[in-house]
Amino acid sequence: MRQRKGIVLAGGSGTRLHPVTLGVSKQLLPVHDKPMIYYPLSLLIMAGVEEIAVITTPDDQPAFRRLLGDGGQLGLAFEFIAQPAPDGLAQAYLLAEPFLAGAPSVLALGDNIFHGPDLQRLLDAARRQILGATLFAHPVSDPERYGVVETDSSGRAVGLVEKPARPQSRLAATGLYFADHEAPSRAATLRPSARGELEITALLETYLAEGRLEVATLGPGHAWFDTGTHESLCEAVNFVRTVERHQGLRIGCIEEAAYRRGLIDAEALLRLAAPMGRTAYAEHLRGLAAAGVPRPAAGLLKIA
Ligand code: TTP
Repeated sequence: MRQRKGIVLAGGSGTRLHPVTLGVSKQLLPVHDKPMIYYPLSLLIMAGVEEIAVITTPDDQPAFRRLLGDGGQLGLAFEFIAQPAPDGLAQAYLLAEPFLAGAPSVLALGDNIFHGPDLQRLLDAARRQILGATLFAHPVSDPERYGVVETDSSGRAVGLVEKPARPQSRLAATGLYFADHEAPSRAATLRPSARGELEITALLETYLAEGRLEVATLGPGHAWFDTGTHESLCEAVNFVRTVERHQGLRIGCIEEAAYRRGLIDAEALLRLAAPMGRTAYAEHLRGLAAAGVPRPAAGLLKIA
């Protein structure tokens, strides 16, 4: 099997954050101490991918390139893909088809933040599934605002409904999707919805119809934020700040995620910290390098 690749979908229009997003991409906005896109990126690194496509609007692409570089500094490879218009989440698979080149994928929305105790275990389980798709779901108190998943006792999806008037469960579909190599060809069969978008729900329904849609449920103790509104962005900032201050850890730290996966060594961490001066973020990287957290993995990449 080809190695799974990652996609971050960081385009869109961000209209719910106007006027803030009239001049800057939503996914470049700070969520406490780091740009929003660091959160989905670190999740993809935790999911074990080493090649990541970053999909943005054509206008915003230079800023993302400036922020992220080619990924070599993290032991990764980034590819930048422009989405000419916000034609829907499922279009990501069409735009990324040459990049994926037949590989399975994991797609993360650029404005979703996840934090929780067994996230790594759930990511590892989804990664091992070769055929089909896995949707990450989170219980919410207002399911009628989301795509809602219904599951059987084994955790397999039996229903998926966009913003149902009478939700059959409290499980909302989050912005994290694992899919097999067929996702681009399935996306190619979709027609735009009433709102003119290629809907991710429609793509997932093709897997659901064949009994091939798994659901990974983020249980109690997990936090999930979609930072698309001023209110939810503020909530996410408060959450990240509180956890980071009280627990001394960092959520969404791409350098740490790469280090823990053995993609870079302590020396590289120090090099990455250098241009960030004495910020708490840089000090965190230095602390990690000094503590020598992960065992050097075989084939550890040295950054020149
Ligand atoms: P949304 O939050 O659904 O859309 P948006 O970001 O355009 O915001 P708004 O509704 O306020 O106008 O998008 C979810 C994520 O997917 C977000 O990171 C933007 C991204 N996205 C794309 O990259 N391309 C698209 O075609 C769409 C619809 C969204």
